[in-house]
Amino acid sequence: MPKLTIDDTPVEVPDGLNLIEAARLCGVEIPHYCYHPALSVVGNCRMCLVEVEKAPKLQIACNTRVTEGMIVRTRSERTKAAQRAVLEFLLVNHPIDCPVCDQAGECKLQDYYMDYDRQPSRFELGRKNHKGKAIDIGGGLMLDQERCVLCARCTRFFDEVTHTSELAIFERGDHNVIDTSPGHKVDNAYALNTVDICPVGALTEKDFRFRMRVWYLHQTASVCGGCERGCAIEIHHHRGRIYRFKPRHNPEVNGYWICDAGRHSFVALQSERRLVAPLRQADDRMAPLQWDAALDEAAAKIAEYQRSHGAGAIGAVAGAHSTNEEAFALKRLMAAIGSDRIAGLGWSPADAPGDDNLLVRANRNPNTRGLAAIGIDVDGVERLGEAAAAGEMKMLIAMRADLVRALGEAEFVRLFGPLDYLLVLDTDANETGQMANLLLPIAAYTELDGSFTNFNGRVQRLNRAFDPPGEARSAIEVIAALAGAAPIVAQPVAVTASAVFAQMAAAEPAFAGLTLDGLGQHGAPLKIPAG
Ligand code: SF4
Ligand code: SF4
Ligand code: FES
Repeated sequence: MPKLTIDDTPVEVPDGLNLIEAARLCGVEIPHYCYHPALSVVGNCRMCLVEVEKAPKLQIACNTRVTEGMIVRTRSERTKAAQRAVLEFLLVNHPIDCPVCDQAGECKLQDYYMDYDRQPSRFELGRKNHKGKAIDIGGGLMLDQERCVLCARCTRFFDEVTHTSELAIFERGDHNVIDTSPGHKVDNAYALNTVDICPVGALTEKDFRFRMRVWYLHQTASVCGGCERGCAIEIHHHRGRIYRFKPRHNPEVNGYWICDAGRHSFVALQSERRLVAPLRQADDRMAPLQWDAALDEAAAKIAEYQRSHGAGAIGAVAGAHSTNEEAFALKRLMAAIGSDRIAGLGWSPADAPGDDNLLVRANRNPNTRGLAAIGIDVDGVERLGEAAAAGEMKMLIAMRADLVRALGEAEFVRLFGPLDYLLVLDTDANETGQMANLLLPIAAYTELDGSFTNFNGRVQRLNRAFDPPGEARSAIEVIAALAGAAPIVAQPVAVTASAVFAQMAAAEPAFAGLTLDGLGQHGAPLKIPAG
């Protein structure tokens, strides 16, 4: 661990760090454009120049590694003059776009101008060098060449991360532009990460442009539910609507990136198909009813079938989109009823791309591993269905499990057609819900606290960004209310996610010693990796 001095403060940092990272560890910001910790170092923007004692010239911090006894000054007069000069240079040809630029509010030119420059331009406005604007380069990207600071982060991302190399720098001097090769478009499954790493408004996302000023957006840390990778994300939302998912750094799961499909997966969470009130099948129609009446009916049905046919007459399916807490609560409810008929259900579209060599997993269910760790057989639906087909199982509770879509209608009818009573807990109207006797609306994973376990056995925390729509409730609350309302249920089911997690940690060896609050930003591994 080399000892050095940064801005007159003695510090000790891990060997091998560059000065940007070393200073960051000590709470000192060194401004930079081209440096990104997950890309190669090119040292072309010169924004990170700092003074290093005994070096005759200023050094670029991104390409200078810490050494024993080094004395670094990031705020000396020489450094400040260099920072002002670099910013003045970058702004010579930069357009006056801030009022109409989507990057405003999170632009490193704006931020650094205010922090390190604050001087009027010595160049005439009318003599700016104009370049291409609002160019659709494919991949959902819009390119504004005038705004580009030529940091080459985007080209390095496509060269080094996706290995697709769609972008390059063309022309020379102040005519330099980022562009695609003639006749080509950006075409890869991770293209929108360049919007995140572009430090200015040169690359923006077509689907987000002009939708919302970023300073109105609230950020909630969560996990993408698009596949079993479980990439760490931030939900950016305003007044109960999600405007975008952004990647959140998790070195154990996704590094700095997410896939474009996962980035856009929030759209399905706020579709017009969202259920907003309990519905009951009556005269071949689904009619709304009050929650109290719905829960009373569901609890009465559980008691009725248990009494008349035995506990085994009741079964449950937890979809692999359920959180760990929801799946555990359902398992506990079934155990309290006395039935061991519980299974998991995972489903991925047949035409979905398979595993790629970066992040995307063929299994589009975010919590298959979590269900397995809780001891729920994720391939057990057919077994349940055979019990229903044989008339042994009369009632089924299906949570986040679109059985019709997963099995196909004919197979669903063959297996589950003989059921007397189907209780469905789901977020959206779907064909399984249409077959339900009672359909209870529940919160999407962005609207609740809880956790997912990814395919590697990493348990990561979900945070409630805002309330679910209409009268939808958290599935845990619904299960706890069912348990409370049904007189036959002896084992209590907790109501909050952290309390259910505590019950789960006490009951399931894979979660032993973990707490929901203790998962932190990067999650924690299962204690006993399952399956
Ligand atoms: S488009 Fe953005 S990321 Fe690419 S070189 Fe220009 S400023 Fe850098
Ligand atoms: S790889 Fe999977 S978890 Fe990650 S962003 Fe894409 S869909 Fe979401
Ligand atoms: S960040 Fe060091 S030269 Fe660009």
